[in-house]
Amino acid sequence: MNNLLAVKIGNLPLQNPIMPASGTFDTTLEPLIDFNQLGAFVTKTFTQSRRSGNALPRICEVSSGMLNAIGIPSKGVEHYISDVVPFFNRYQPPLVASISANTAAEFAQLAEILTDVKGIAAIEANISCPNIEAHGKAFAIAADSTKKVIKMLRRATPLPLWAKLTPNTGDIISVAKAVEDEGGDAIVVGNTLLGMAIDVKTRRPKLGNIMGGFSGPAIKPINLRMTYQCFKHVSIPVIGCGGIETLNDVLEYLLAGATAVQVGTANFIEPTIMTDLVQQLTDYCQANNIKSMTDLIGQVDDTPFEPYTALS
Ligand SMILES: Cc1cc2nc3c(=O)[nH]c(=O)nc-3n(C[C@H](O)[C@H](O)[C@H](O)COP(=O)(O)O)c2cc1C
Repeated sequence: MNNLLAVKIGNLPLQNPIMPASGTFDTTLEPLIDFNQLGAFVTKTFTQSRRSGNALPRICEVSSGMLNAIGIPSKGVEHYISDVVPFFNRYQPPLVASISANTAAEFAQLAEILTDVKGIAAIEANISCPNIEAHGKAFAIAADSTKKVIKMLRRATPLPLWAKLTPNTGDIISVAKAVEDEGGDAIVVGNTLLGMAIDVKTRRPKLGNIMGGFSGPAIKPINLRMTYQCFKHVSIPVIGCGGIETLNDVLEYLLAGATAVQVGTANFIEPTIMTDLVQQLTDYCQANNIKSMTDLIGQVDDTPFEPYTALS
């Protein structure tokens, strides 16, 4: 284990702070990168039962990023336990199971099933997904629906519980506090921003679902700002995610208060990006006399700037 980069998410130790963002990484990367170099594995969100996902097309490129509306196709929990868990357990990094459900009770039921499965180190509750009891609004849009689902999840499982928040909320601080109040172990900030693209020749939306999640470099300032706000207002670890492509992006998230980061869209452009970032972060720390990640995490110098006093 490379101690220089080691971090802890609650009680879960990670050898380094770099991990994939759910849905942007899977077993097919195995021949391309050394999986043992990652901080953790976060797998594609799955649901308890099988579901087929959204109509095609499910992704499209836009300026500075991409849109996706995959719709969480899922082979169900039995497949996850029989195929996905054993695959990743051949490697050292801890396995984080990203889960989704239509209701708080269904979330809790799935978490309870996973609790008894050997080889799952943490649950990432993708509460950025639609809540059927709130007319399809994502659980993490509001503090009250977040409270309800995290409370039920917390009762259902003693496994480390991460909550993945949505930047589509207008009140990220209240939502993050709701996770902390109900016993969540970490928050992931965050998921995609709701977007849309139209093919002007056909006048058809570019996504089968019409709207979809916007990800990539353009969303970095938004999710970085929310990471900073959450770090300032909750004491559980914050995991930053959104638009990370370079070492500079990783450093910004760490300085803003992220204990670890997730890399998403960039995996599609450069499949070796995550292990490249681990190496670049190691080199940066060595070159800059950084002894541990605590020298970086939350270390942005945000002392107030001098007031502007000149007359206009
Ligand atoms: C094709 C695609 C599929 C995704 N699937 C999931 C998913 O299943 N669960 C989830 O929580 N987030 C999912 N996401 C969101 C990413 O995990 C990540 O939060 C988001 O893309 C922002 O990071 P990025 O800008 O680095 O991509 C998906 C993103 C993309 C682009």
